[in-house]
Amino acid sequence: MSYASLMVDVGAERSYPIEIFVGNLDQIGDDFGVIPSARNALIVTNTVVEGYYLSALKKGIGKNFQRIFHISLDDGEAAKNWNSLNKIYDVLLQNECDRNTVIFALGGGVVGDMAGFAAATFMRGIPFVQVPTTLLAQVDSSVGGKTAINHPLGKNMIGAFYQPKAVICNLETLSTLPSRELSAGLAEVIKYGPIFDMDFMQWLETSVEQVLAKDMKSLAFAVHRSCEIKAAVVGRDERETGLRAILNFGHTFGHAIEAGMGYGVWLHGEGVAAGMVMAAELSRRLGMVDEAFVQRLKSLIERAGLPVRGPVLDASDNAGRYLELMRIDKKSEAGEIRFVLIDGPGKAVVRGAPDALVREVIDACCA
Ligand code: NAD
Ligand code: GLY
Repeated sequence: MSYASLMVDVGAERSYPIEIFVGNLDQIGDDFGVIPSARNALIVTNTVVEGYYLSALKKGIGKNFQRIFHISLDDGEAAKNWNSLNKIYDVLLQNECDRNTVIFALGGGVVGDMAGFAAATFMRGIPFVQVPTTLLAQVDSSVGGKTAINHPLGKNMIGAFYQPKAVICNLETLSTLPSRELSAGLAEVIKYGPIFDMDFMQWLETSVEQVLAKDMKSLAFAVHRSCEIKAAVVGRDERETGLRAILNFGHTFGHAIEAGMGYGVWLHGEGVAAGMVMAAELSRRLGMVDEAFVQRLKSLIERAGLPVRGPVLDASDNAGRYLELMRIDKKSEAGEIRFVLIDGPGKAVVRGAPDALVREVIDACCA
């Protein structure tokens, strides 16, 4: 049943497994020895995922807990906020959950980021397990311990680094994922190539259609290799003091798109996709990659069903609006925007760029 098991090495006490498999969540307690046991479990999910997978997960972890509660949050990025977070605390407190409680995040990156932040902060920290059900969450957000909610002024601005106890990644859950969401997840898969592994990018160039068709072998390789790369990066720089920032390729522009359009209008992966093209174009204008590389990346992104041009956020001063939004970014230093740029295929660096050049790129890359 298990396709692969990987470790995220963040030090002896906190290292944890990623179990990648094709099967049913109702057997995970028997199949994997990595599910914690405690008095209480709280499954955090949303109104969409609940209908597909909640009862199976409840059954799967049934032997490990005396009491299992759940909460279904509103669906979507617009719900990644204080209000939803408070609902998680409410259900924990109303049911007199103490520290002998494990939170399960059942859903995509939105649920995972919020459930993780609730676990990081409830009673100063209780264990949690990621059960990612979108491609994006399986290849990126469930791994590495970034947890957060959005602020109206900026994406993921309130959060904590807090690692899960395990990531239980059932590829079978992708069978119900809408194609737009599958494509959005592919953006985070594509990013690993230009920043880290051009062989992986080459594999994707031959396999993207099979991934989109949900061919299980192709999905399994895409998830496995993505998790390997993410685990390697996080293992070297858990708290993003340096290297880990390369995982934000495309995100500086992408987060501006998400916030500027209103959370949920563009999916996170769609913003990242157009953002990667802009970051690649900025790299080209700085002499770090050639035109052929930008075209190659663009073509892969297009084939994945993703946008290669950013939206116009402000008809009167579009570039100005992007710059304003991008200054509120966790990589910014003293108001200087720092971008993840490609310094030759397969290698990323984090650096600033003159505003005038960034303006040119935005003007050239937006619809
Ligand atoms: P999402 O959580 O909103 O899920 C996408 C949609 O798919 C939702 O409508 C959801 O209800 C639905 N869904 C989930 N699983 C399903 C399934 N199996 N079948 C049918 N529908 C299903 O979005 P996402 O793309 O998974 O995650 C995006 C979020 O992840 C963003 O908030 C982003 O900031 C965050 N993120 C975090 C990290 C991190 O390191 N923590 C990394 C990347 C992205
Ligand atoms: N998704 C970026 C990171 O985890 O660092």
